Amino acid sequence: MTTPSADPHWWRRAVVYQVYPRSFQDTNGDGIGDLQGIIDRLDYLNDGTHRSLGIDAIWLSPTFPSPMKDFGYDVSDHRGVHPDFGDMAAMDRLIAECHHRGVRVLLDFVPNHTSDQHPWFRESRSSCDNPKRDWYIWRPPGPGGALPNNWLSAFGGPAWTFDDATGEYYLHSFLTEQPDLNWRNPEVERAMHDVLRFWMDRGIDGYRIDVVGMIVKHPELADNPVDTLYRDPAGQAIGFSRKNNQNYHDVYDAVRRIRCVIDEYPGRVAVGEVFGTHDEIARYYGGDALDGLHLAFNFKFIHDTDRRDGYTPWDAATIRGILLGAEQAVPPGGLPCYALANHDRPRFISRHNEDGRGLERARAAVLLLLGARNVPFLYYGEEIGMTDVDIPEDRLQDPARFRSIGRDPARTPMQWDATPGRGFSTAEPWLPYGPPSINVAAQVDDPASILALHRDAIRIRKQEPALHSGTMELLESPPGTVLFVRRAEGHRPILVALSTATEPLALPIPPAFSTILLASDPPLPAPPPRGRLNLPPLTAAWLA
Ligand code: GLC
Repeated sequence: MTTPSADPHWWRRAVVYQVYPRSFQDTNGDGIGDLQGIIDRLDYLNDGTHRSLGIDAIWLSPTFPSPMKDFGYDVSDHRGVHPDFGDMAAMDRLIAECHHRGVRVLLDFVPNHTSDQHPWFRESRSSCDNPKRDWYIWRPPGPGGALPNNWLSAFGGPAWTFDDATGEYYLHSFLTEQPDLNWRNPEVERAMHDVLRFWMDRGIDGYRIDVVGMIVKHPELADNPVDTLYRDPAGQAIGFSRKNNQNYHDVYDAVRRIRCVIDEYPGRVAVGEVFGTHDEIARYYGGDALDGLHLAFNFKFIHDTDRRDGYTPWDAATIRGILLGAEQAVPPGGLPCYALANHDRPRFISRHNEDGRGLERARAAVLLLLGARNVPFLYYGEEIGMTDVDIPEDRLQDPARFRSIGRDPARTPMQWDATPGRGFSTAEPWLPYGPPSINVAAQVDDPASILALHRDAIRIRKQEPALHSGTMELLESPPGTVLFVRRAEGHRPILVALSTATEPLALPIPPAFSTILLASDPPLPAPPPRGRLNLPPLTAAWLA
């Protein structure tokens, strides 16, 4: 199988689109999206013309066999395809069809844990002296049956489950059904490296790596200290930091060894799902040698820590701080990697809609995400302005109710048209649909739609070296605004301006910028008088 072009650095200029396979397109009438559905919709993503979105790569949330306790993040066979999604032949076809269109394919690599139904764990739990016992993290109970330490599951409750058969606890940083692998065991590391090779041998272009910052823990599994960040409003401690099970210092060495495996295959890329401070995130790039991951997600436009429920406000000072923080932390030659939404958090519009103006903010955010120096990841449906969907209690699917109703509202089927099945399925969908008015068909020919705005922004980004490959310099600007210049040698610079204010603002800009290339708020604001830009409320613009 071939990859689309020989440029090993293709990903540096890429716009990546996250497909949640269960929710993209159903073709076999079971109400669940499948790989054939993704193939059928590839022209929407990139048909080589300006009618399509024009993305460069897709990342598929897990497609592997799984009991679906955590919707695929509980893998029971790393080398197959879940029958809900199709089979290996369908995956091969998808890879080939993507490559045919010049679109790269990233799969999800879930290294921290497997399903409890994975043959490795079945063996591991079968007896204390099974050769795979040490592939997972088992500990005897403390005095009086005490838990081995104070670590908590990200989904609530202790990270330990007692296994009656062998009288020990096993560690699970997520659901009970997701036991953590022991990456300190070289056999585990080797086996997981082989999983990486398996899919790269089949032609995929890289991986998004699930919670990679947790794979190597404190060797003695020491307690986590109580962290003052995690107190309820009354001051009561409600959680612990993850000092000893996240971003633990030698996880960075394991990451370098993952990079070595990726490097066996030219032109492949690895992006890590990581959490922490700007510096902790940036360390995943591997320092000045850049021998860690190619990219590490910076989720700070969504939330600041991985566990507080507080979402990042849409506020210029905060946005500026995030851009500066990331720029300062990422080592020279590295590129930040931002997302405004994903399958784990409420959708952008729903996070910023207190006053009903979420869509305006979302439109401005497109120009921020695609204007900033970074490799941007778009979450399916955001490009048409999908919002969180109210799910009736009896249809909730996500077992992780750590955010009361879980993550289902942001995972509902893609809305292709306004028909009862939204063009997604002929059957009852696995999750209910959103309002029929939000759909692709209604927007595809409307130049004022948020879909057209995405298309235009991606196209212009591709045409302008300053945007896809340039440096970024943040300028001083009045409160409520963010202003930066992108520059690439030998090409025209681009100015990006954003206002998060709800009243119109005028801001001084370098006089060299006099043409508006794209504005989030149509019709285009009048051409700026020299040295001054009038920004309507909650808008953004690109200028040359
Ligand atoms: C990541 C995934 C999330 C999953 C968890 C456990 O955070 O994005 O969906 O539940 O890891 O694998």
